[in-house]
Amino acid sequence: MPSDASKQIGAAPERERWGSRIGLILAAAGNAIGIGNLLRFPGQAAANGGGAFMIPYVVSLLLFGLPMMWVAWTMGRFGGRHGHGTTPGIFDKMWRNPAAKYFGVVGVALPLAFVLYYAYIEAWCLGYAWFSLNGTLESAPGAKVDLALFFGEFLGNATTHNYFPGPTTALVLVVVTLSLNAIVLYRGVARGIEVLAKIAIPLLFIFCIVLAVRVCTLGTIKGNVLDGLNFIWTPQFGRLGDWNVWMAAAGQIFFTLSIGFGSLECYASYLRDRDDVTLTGLSTASTNEFVEVIFGSMIAIPAAAVFFGAGQIENIAAGGTFNIGMVSMPEILRSIPGIQIFGTLWFLLLFFAAFTSSVAVAQPVMAFLQDETRLKRPVAAVILMLFWFLGTLPVLYFYKYGVLDEFDFWAGTIGLVVFALIEVLIFNFAFGIDRGWKEMHRGAQVQVPRFFRFVIRYVTPPALLFIFGGWFYQAIQNNTLVPRPSLLYNVVERANYPGDFVSGTRPEWSEEEATRMRAQADAVFARIQEAVELSGRDLRGRADLRFLEDGTVQVLDLRVDHALQDALDSQALELYLSGVGYRYEVVDDGGRTESAAATIMIEALNRAPYIWLTRLLMVVFGVAFLVAIHAIWKERSAEGGVA
Ligand code: ALA
Repeated sequence: MPSDASKQIGAAPERERWGSRIGLILAAAGNAIGIGNLLRFPGQAAANGGGAFMIPYVVSLLLFGLPMMWVAWTMGRFGGRHGHGTTPGIFDKMWRNPAAKYFGVVGVALPLAFVLYYAYIEAWCLGYAWFSLNGTLESAPGAKVDLALFFGEFLGNATTHNYFPGPTTALVLVVVTLSLNAIVLYRGVARGIEVLAKIAIPLLFIFCIVLAVRVCTLGTIKGNVLDGLNFIWTPQFGRLGDWNVWMAAAGQIFFTLSIGFGSLECYASYLRDRDDVTLTGLSTASTNEFVEVIFGSMIAIPAAAVFFGAGQIENIAAGGTFNIGMVSMPEILRSIPGIQIFGTLWFLLLFFAAFTSSVAVAQPVMAFLQDETRLKRPVAAVILMLFWFLGTLPVLYFYKYGVLDEFDFWAGTIGLVVFALIEVLIFNFAFGIDRGWKEMHRGAQVQVPRFFRFVIRYVTPPALLFIFGGWFYQAIQNNTLVPRPSLLYNVVERANYPGDFVSGTRPEWSEEEATRMRAQADAVFARIQEAVELSGRDLRGRADLRFLEDGTVQVLDLRVDHALQDALDSQALELYLSGVGYRYEVVDDGGRTESAAATIMIEALNRAPYIWLTRLLMVVFGVAFLVAIHAIWKERSAEGGVA
């Protein structure tokens, strides 16, 4: 039986190759450096106690990040030698077992699911660069844009239309973003991805330096830059026992290094047989970590410390992973002269970082279509873009039901660990650690310390299993596996109010009072959820409110959907809004509470059908690839060749 791919019947044509060493290094850096570094890292670090997060983060880097980086590059180059850039083919060559190729499906279905939501976030960044440049986000007296609501309406995650009449703007941005990705993927590895990296990565560094210098010269307002740096860099040993912080740190390492996406493997498959992988893996990880820990911690977090005070950083991040980058950063940047310059730079920086990662994560799908289904690159690009666009539509249109978070949980969190676990087990036991270690060092420019051989063999697999179990346990504890209804409410005609409508613990509440108030709100919310589940649809309402200076909210008039009436009358709404500390504040004046009368729109959302639809879509991706692989391998063996 012929073993050389080129001798096989129906073998793939000559595979593409990287054009230059520097191009490869920049492309690999671009693969890893993304939204994860500049948006997700500060968000995660802030939400998990800053210094408390950094110890588990460094441990995860050593136990999963670096070892899996080398494993991925090694497996990818090995696969490329046999004409395979994706894991169905790679696993099949490494593990002589008919089941191997089916396990490899995860390495194609998962990146496809991932890019559906990742490119949408990329489109936000492009949009916000434009909003900064054209002055939309600028602070004008009397007509201040409420950035949290602006973001909510932009995403369709609001009940009102103060700033956006509908999702058209987001849709246009998605089309532009996907078209740019299509051009790069259509042009191929050397003429597309490599050229993009050569432009985007230097620009990214320049933008990072300009923004870091600007943030460092902000001076003192409610805090200073050092408060922010202390927040993130002062180790907090007391929180090392917090399970959630460990889970968050491990998740961040996977996401940021592009571990478990099948994407590094795919980039490695375009290497030549004796091209180095050890130094390349190391340089990918170090460039990524440099951008993440230096720039990721020197821009958004110190800026938030200056403007809101270090004590507020954790609260800001608790509002959502992206809040610090998409809401707080523009808020800060519009308070200093030149939002048009610095705001545009910040969002362009995020956009470029995301762009080089989205093409990287989409490349396994391209490679699968080219290597396995033998499609020509232009046809592969058209097919991929069609699926990509159609798949992004539910993320965009059903954002408020939590579709993006659902993709992020399964594809961007759990899936990465599952895939990495399969990969490391195949490397260790099916291919064999001795053979794997030798393969890793073929043409190597640096020797990987033998300590990592031990880690790959004995530490990474059980630690991955532990993390996987941890997330599932967490999801079961927080009851997130069963989708429950959620509640949205926003102020109509927002432009009439110069202050802010905010929720959260009121400063004068004692801890017991805050707990009592929260419990009161939770009880009303539980009744709303039951009403939605009983009716099986979204329920809406409209309320006229009066906010008094002592922080009380009065409901003057309430009109709700018939099915919601029993769960939400005026008194229940008052209890709910007081319980969550909903109030009207003039923030410029130190958070003074003001009286106002406002109308809010309420939506209680029946999330279950959308969440189940998302899960079904992911299963369909997996099954479709399984069927395709089964058919392709069957056809090849019928032709008399091996896959
Ligand atoms: N590694 C990429 C990022 O950090 C996916 O965004």
